[in-house]
Amino acid sequence: MDKKLIVANWKNHPNSLAEAQQILDFIDEYLGSTESRFSNIGLVFCPPFVFIEEVAKILKTSHLVSQSELGAQDIFWDDSGSSTGEISGPMLTKLGVRYVIIGHSERRWKLNESNEIVNKKLRVALRNELVPIVCIGEKTRDDNFREFVKEQLIATFNGLFTDEISRCIIAYEPVWAISTNQGSRPDTPESANESLKIIENTLIRDCKLEIRNLPKILYGGSITSANAKDFLHNDKFDGVLVGGASVNKEEFIKILSQA
Ligand code: PGA
Repeated sequence: MDKKLIVANWKNHPNSLAEAQQILDFIDEYLGSTESRFSNIGLVFCPPFVFIEEVAKILKTSHLVSQSELGAQDIFWDDSGSSTGEISGPMLTKLGVRYVIIGHSERRWKLNESNEIVNKKLRVALRNELVPIVCIGEKTRDDNFREFVKEQLIATFNGLFTDEISRCIIAYEPVWAISTNQGSRPDTPESANESLKIIENTLIRDCKLEIRNLPKILYGGSITSANAKDFLHNDKFDGVLVGGASVNKEEFIKILSQA
């Protein structure tokens, strides 16, 4: 069985490198005391860009070295050029980054990142041999949500070869379930399974993937120690994408202990 993936999306936290170090030291200590129990999970840390280099160094000198990898929270769609403020694929790979979150709902909805932009970022990530963690999810769970998820998925992967789509990881993150959104509540595995079926059917029927080549699918949205087990022990999901709870060190190790 493949390892379950736990992706820590730190968003724009913590405020300092010292705090980042504290979080990682805490997890390191915990893993050091219980290492053998965690052979079934892979961890991906996605810190803000400014901490990536130092986090890479910390990971290399801790118990996390054997089971964690580095991720970025975004990427620019050109490898170089006049794009003030942007971070390119080659910059990320040189820092040892292996994964990159693309199309997070906070970028899609707050920064108007369109499916076309997400698609361009996906292409550049793949060209740079990064593994895109592509976020998909409806804003509201209304009568149109099935159609919305299907259309967002098709537009996001528009024009990509099937083998390129297979190399991605999809994070199903309903926007209404993200902890910082007003009135949020986590999705249940049963209802997330329904969305997962829509995603799989769309990948097979519209994107022409074969069942055996479907990408890994994670669930994200208000994952805490109270529900992590429901998703991590659900064979439909390949892991979880954790936001707010991933920078709360006590809570994060409780999540790890559910794996
Ligand atoms: P959350 O965030 O776990 O705080 O809901 C998840 C995400 O936005 O990736």
